[in-house]
Formats: sequence, structure tokens, C-alpha cells
Amino acid sequence: MSSERKVTLGVLGSGRGTNFAAIRDAIAAGRLAASISVVISDREDAPILELAREGKIPTAVLRKGSFRTWLEPDIEEELAQCLRRFRVDLVVLAGFMRVLKGPLLAAYRGRILNIHPSLLPAFKGKEAWRQALEAGATEAGCTVHWVEPEVDSGPILGQARVPILSGDTPERLHARIQEAEHRLYPEVIQSVIDRKLWLGIHS
Ligand code: GAR
Repeated sequence: MSSERKVTLGVLGSGRGTNFAAIRDAIAAGRLAASISVVISDREDAPILELAREGKIPTAVLRKGSFRTWLEPDIEEELAQCLRRFRVDLVVLAGFMRVLKGPLLAAYRGRILNIHPSLLPAFKGKEAWRQALEAGATEAGCTVHWVEPEVDSGPILGQARVPILSGDTPERLHARIQEAEHRLYPEVIQSVIDRKLWLGIHS
């Protein structure tokens, strides 16, 4: 890669896109030396797509498959092709609620990041903030990690802790975790770029 070309991010999300917005803002503020070349969702009505369009960032929507929590291999292959077409160097999962299994992991092995709303390895899976509350934990947080075939289990790159306060509801706790996510994710992506870790096994 020439030293002039910025590392290109492909952001995948299924929901509101607040982490995408934090990454976009960090780039605009000069805190993250990258560019976002495409935002991809599995839901055509996901607010993250609208946010991307407002920022004139190209978007794509995955073909509907038969399953809710994962993608058929041919759809995952189309996803990998789309990321290649947009010359994506580093794949950033930002609230992407599908388990990635095969073709994408093979195509972008060692170059896919995820943010999870817990202090992994605690509370893997869905609504981790609710799991933390129900378990009576006194602390919660978020984790950025590499994506590997086993869900929420890849090597950890960074974590941020937040307290659980008395009277917390799941919504209040998730909002506090999200504030931490918005600081942590851009910082970790920049550190991956600084350390050239995004070259992964493809260097
Ligand atoms: C974030 O809290 C993220 O950690 C979580 O989804 C939310 C997406 O919010 N991801 C997971 O639970 C993945 N297992 P956003 O759409 O506002 O960025």
C-alpha cells in the first residue's frame, strides 16, 4: 500500500449506527486516519444506512436469506465480494447482528473487528448489558476484538469499563456502555492502523 492511501474501512451494522457515527466523527476530527468506503446492512430499514447516505457514503443491503441470525454461504460470499469491490482493508462490525461463519472469515481472516457490549469473556451473545444486570454484576463495559469463528471469542484489542449503578435499567446501562463504545472503537481502530495489524495474514 502506498503511504498516501488511507486504510479503508467497510462498516457492517444492523441497527442505529451510533458506533458508525462515532467512527465517522473521529475521521472528520482527524483522530482516525482512515476512510469509510462502504456501509453494509442486512436490514434495508436500518437507521445506519440513512446515516451513511446523509454523509454521502456508499451503502449496500444484503440479499434476504432464510435465517435470522446467520447468513447462507452464498450471501456471505456476496458480502465478501462487495467489500473487495469497495477495496475494503479492514472490516468493522458495528452492531451487526449476524454470526459470520465461512466465506467472509476466509476472505478477510485477521481483518475483521467487532465491538461487544460487555467485558469479554463475560456475557457473550445477545443483550450483554441485560445479562450483566441480571447476574448482579457491579461493573460492565465493552470490548473490541478480532472476529474468529467462535462467537465473541477472538483476541481482545481493547476494553473500557463502566460502573453499574443502583437503580440501573437495561436501557440506562446500555446507554452508559455505548458512550464508552464511542470513545473506545475509534481509538482501537487507530491503534490497529498504527501497528499495521490490519495487514493480518494477508500481508
Ligand atoms: C452496540 O452496543 C454494540 O456493542 C452491540 O450492538 C450495539 C449497536 O449499536 N453489538 C452487539 O451486541 C454484538 N454482539 P449501534 O448500532 O448504535 O452502533
